[in-house]
Amino acid sequence: MLKITYHGHSAFEINTGTYNLIIDPFITHNKNAKIKAAEIKADFILLTHAHNDHIGDTMEIAKNNDAAIIAVHELSEYLISKGFKSHGMGIGGQRAFPFGKVKFTIAHHSSSLESENLYMGEPAGIVLSIGDKTIYHAGDTGLFLDMKLIGEMQNIDLALLPIGDNYTMGIDDAVKAAEFLNCKTASPMHYATFDLIDTNPEEFKRKVESIGKQCVIMPYGEPLEI
Ligand code: NI
Ligand code: MN
Repeated sequence: MLKITYHGHSAFEINTGTYNLIIDPFITHNKNAKIKAAEIKADFILLTHAHNDHIGDTMEIAKNNDAAIIAVHELSEYLISKGFKSHGMGIGGQRAFPFGKVKFTIAHHSSSLESENLYMGEPAGIVLSIGDKTIYHAGDTGLFLDMKLIGEMQNIDLALLPIGDNYTMGIDDAVKAAEFLNCKTASPMHYATFDLIDTNPEEFKRKVESIGKQCVIMPYGEPLEI
């Protein structure tokens, strides 16, 4: 049993019963987060890419919890250079951690530390295999046909898909992604945080259900069990 809590944007906390993980912990400047960065407990922080709205409060949370940060190589090396514990991975690589397996997938996007205009390697999606559950966090990405391959190679229970458009997939592309991934359940993310990405999750849900898949619009700050 996994407990997943959505903090808005692309930030998800996952509790395995033993470990607490957080993906893309953008909390402080995220109007939908119902928690403060200082309150977050994390053993591991997983990052899809370096943009502000994903790296977010990583440094504060890592410091408070002595957490290890799992990220693409260049971002990981940067974090190590700043004194953090970090494990670097490449696209297509998988590794077993104490909580489960992490595999990085492609994502069609970019990755930089905007404040310093520093290149931070390739953006990624993350496939998490914990116990008998598989979660795919797409990161920020446009639609890509290889999602079919990701869905063929893994049995995805829950796909976390950006629907906000402009920077990532919009609703119709994300519905197509759910179809390609052949996931059991899709949940929307990366919407409603800024005016520019204020798409309607109910429309996404309706369209996902019309192709025979489940969709859960995760409420902010309330744990959901899968
Ligand atoms: Ni981004
Ligand atoms: Mn983003």
